[in-house]
Amino acid sequence: MKTILVTGGTGYIGSHTTIELQKLGFNVVIIDNLSNSDIKSLERIKSITGIEAKFEYGDVCDKSFLDNIFQKYEISSIIHFAAYKAVGESVSKPISYYSNNLISLMNILETMTKHSVKNLIFSSSCTVYGQPDILPVTEETELKPANSPYGNTKKISEDIIIDFINSGADIRAVILRYFNPVGADMSGKIGELPQGIPNNLMPYITQTALGIREKLMVFGNDYNTNDGTAIRDYIHVSDLANAHISAMNYLNDKPTKFYDIFNVGTGEGYSVMQVINSINKFLTSPLPYQITERRQGDIEKIWADPSKANEILKWQPIYSIDDMTSSALNWEKFLRQDK
Ligand code: NAD
Ligand code: UD1
Repeated sequence: MKTILVTGGTGYIGSHTTIELQKLGFNVVIIDNLSNSDIKSLERIKSITGIEAKFEYGDVCDKSFLDNIFQKYEISSIIHFAAYKAVGESVSKPISYYSNNLISLMNILETMTKHSVKNLIFSSSCTVYGQPDILPVTEETELKPANSPYGNTKKISEDIIIDFINSGADIRAVILRYFNPVGADMSGKIGELPQGIPNNLMPYITQTALGIREKLMVFGNDYNTNDGTAIRDYIHVSDLANAHISAMNYLNDKPTKFYDIFNVGTGEGYSVMQVINSINKFLTSPLPYQITERRQGDIEKIWADPSKANEILKWQPIYSIDDMTSSALNWEKFLRQDK
């Protein structure tokens, strides 16, 4: 039976995508070097789907390791999540980010070509749009220079894929530009696992809700938005996971030497205060927070026009902002008992 290779599959989005793939009967092999994830993800995936994902411990930057995996399994598609993703860390360790994120991708492209594997789904980010002049952003919206080495690796990765296909490589690719993935599998048994103090909003909120952090710092309330706090397009991670399966199905009947790009967001923007109001519905006392200075490098507002993915991929998100906050909270509670 053909297998889907999920690189970075023990990580946040990769584990949720593995779950959705297994639920639909796909065979999954995960590659991960556990640089930003826990081996426990495998048990957690199994506890939800009842299926053991095959796991290959190793580094996608190691070409001979990758070559062995492509020999060992009959791979039909690759979903390439493995990358470093911390914006702040990328500023202090640019070489490590360029090297991990770009070499891994180039190895995947070369190895899939060598083994005649045709389909690639790549994780990009709405960070490539910077602060757009017009909202919502479509896939045609002008890209802005990246404001971090991490963001630049996503822009360069997109270029590498497109240049490779334009050179005549016999593959097909979908580039997915994720907006802000949040939340957790509705079982509450798996979710995001930030190391140390979270940088992103949702894990900071859920840790604050459980008293692990004293209060949430809201970075600025003087933006040009309804309540002054910044707006993002939050997307439930399981909805995002399913977008990869839609993308894979879309690629199957395309010719090779083909690529396409899709925004993956809900099309709805929520401010930081609206996210706080949502989580408050699930708490016995309101989330403590304090307004502070804007965070350097933050944009004011962004949300997607997801109509291309809705129409062409036939993909629709189903989860609401309350599903996102409540599932994230349930996971945080589960995690504290499951340590
Ligand atoms: P994550 O850190 O939870 O998962 C990435 C996984 O890749 C981790 O398990 C890590 O151990 C593994 N990994 C990293 N480098 C590797 C290598 N060289 N070889 C093998 N394994 C390696 O991150 P995530 O949030 O699940 O993100 C997945 C992808 O989506 C990344 O490419 C990320 O840049 C992209 N993305 C994420 C977000 C987000 O907000 N989470 C937004 C836009 C894009
Ligand atoms: C950040 C990254 C982006 C990356 C994304 C997903 C930056 C500048 N951008 O996006 O490149 O793709 O994560 O990993 O880091 N907020 C608070 N208090 C907090 C944390 C966040 O008020 O403690 C606010 C932020 O100012 C922002 C919103 O919450 O307005 C969302 O923040 P975050 O979750 O970090 O995502 P982004 O900044 O959108």
